[in-house]
Amino acid sequence: MASVPPTSFPKDQIKILLLENIHPGAHALFAAEGFQVEALSTALKEKDLVEKIRDVHVIGIRSKTQLRELPIQEAKRLLTIGAFCIGTNQIDLDCANKRGVPVFNAPFSNTRSVAELILAEVIALSRQLGDRSRECHTGVWKKLASGSYEVRGKTLGVIGYGHIGSQIGVIAEMIGMNVIFYDRVTKLPMGNNRPVPSLGELLAHSDFVTLHVPETPQTKNMIGVDELSMMKKGSFLLNASRGTVVVIPALADAIRRGHLAGAAVDVYPEEPEANGEGFKSELQGLPNVLLTPHIGGSTIEAQESIGREVATSLIRFINTGTTTGAVNFPHVDLPPAIGRETHRILNVHKNQPGVLRDINKIVSDKNANIEAQVLATDPNIGYLVMDIGSDVSEDVKQGIASIPASIKTRILY
Ligand code: NAI
Repeated sequence: MASVPPTSFPKDQIKILLLENIHPGAHALFAAEGFQVEALSTALKEKDLVEKIRDVHVIGIRSKTQLRELPIQEAKRLLTIGAFCIGTNQIDLDCANKRGVPVFNAPFSNTRSVAELILAEVIALSRQLGDRSRECHTGVWKKLASGSYEVRGKTLGVIGYGHIGSQIGVIAEMIGMNVIFYDRVTKLPMGNNRPVPSLGELLAHSDFVTLHVPETPQTKNMIGVDELSMMKKGSFLLNASRGTVVVIPALADAIRRGHLAGAAVDVYPEEPEANGEGFKSELQGLPNVLLTPHIGGSTIEAQESIGREVATSLIRFINTGTTTGAVNFPHVDLPPAIGRETHRILNVHKNQPGVLRDINKIVSDKNANIEAQVLATDPNIGYLVMDIGSDVSEDVKQGIASIPASIKTRILY
């Protein structure tokens, strides 16, 4: 990270609360900055959370802590929230936005892990590894070549050519597969990967179809009876995206009829909340079907990488006000001025006409020179990062904070 001027608020008074066993790599990064870190291994119920969050500046959670309106309202000192995971449904993003609190997550940290699992499964399905292994475990010796193929020269069809889909496309080519992809928007093809114009064309030409789309109204039940019937006889389907994308009874039927030669499924329309027994699926017991418990992104490397990615975003926000990558906030990234002494002020305000004019008037009335100023807005709020030249910044801050539309104002340095 580029060196930044020392913050006006002493770093050792910034309190960070980490819940749910966040990776120690994140603690180390915060500790190196000199922040106070308290780490708990569990989630907190709302009542305890409300108590605990009152005097913290930063909270880090994973998927189990429900950060709803009440705790966010009570957290009067809260500057930012870290979701040390991919999803952010557990956080009231709108409430955080309106209170001027950006939320950061780790969307790319487990991309490689999912891609590797899919590649492993492509080969495993092609050799019926799940079934052969289960037979050997139960004392059955069944050596055969029929129905087993190399993947070299076969066509992999990727639906959703985003971070994961394109990474899979690159790795699959390395083992000699042809890769075609279909995406809702035009994407730059990696290597020799080739786009196709429609879902139907992808389904008709692929030996393996792998899904990497998000959960949206358009992707709900994207692969049902009609789409499965468009797939080649003897082909395979893999889904490690979201459980709602594939109609499970239709998939089970296509396997029972032998239209598909197998499937690998990591995500389900309904998933158990906790580890243990109690998982049911119509796909259980079907031949050459690999079922895994939503482990696509679950690796030690991904956990480490999530810790690093989110902690880095939080530290960058605390030190410089940068909100690039925030999921609920306008994105601003103003590099620190080099070789000039400047004071940085951050202001979050209601997005209404005239606020910038009012702020600039306050600055010019104090005879302060604006060295740099960046404003970004969303429908609710505007986020302004401003570097001014003279040391009247406390004055300017008071003036800006007193504008009725102001939500949060702080002098960074
Ligand atoms: P991404 O946002 O980088 O890529 C998604 C791609 O899908 C984009 O290129 C987008 O344009 C495309 N897309 C969206 N709607 C579409 C439609 N209707 N038709 C065709 N293409 C469409 O997302 P990323 O990071 O690659 O993740 C993909 C999926 O993988 C997500 O659903 C995510 O939740 C899931 N995932 C699953 C994990 C697991 O443990 N199994 C771990 C990580 C992600």
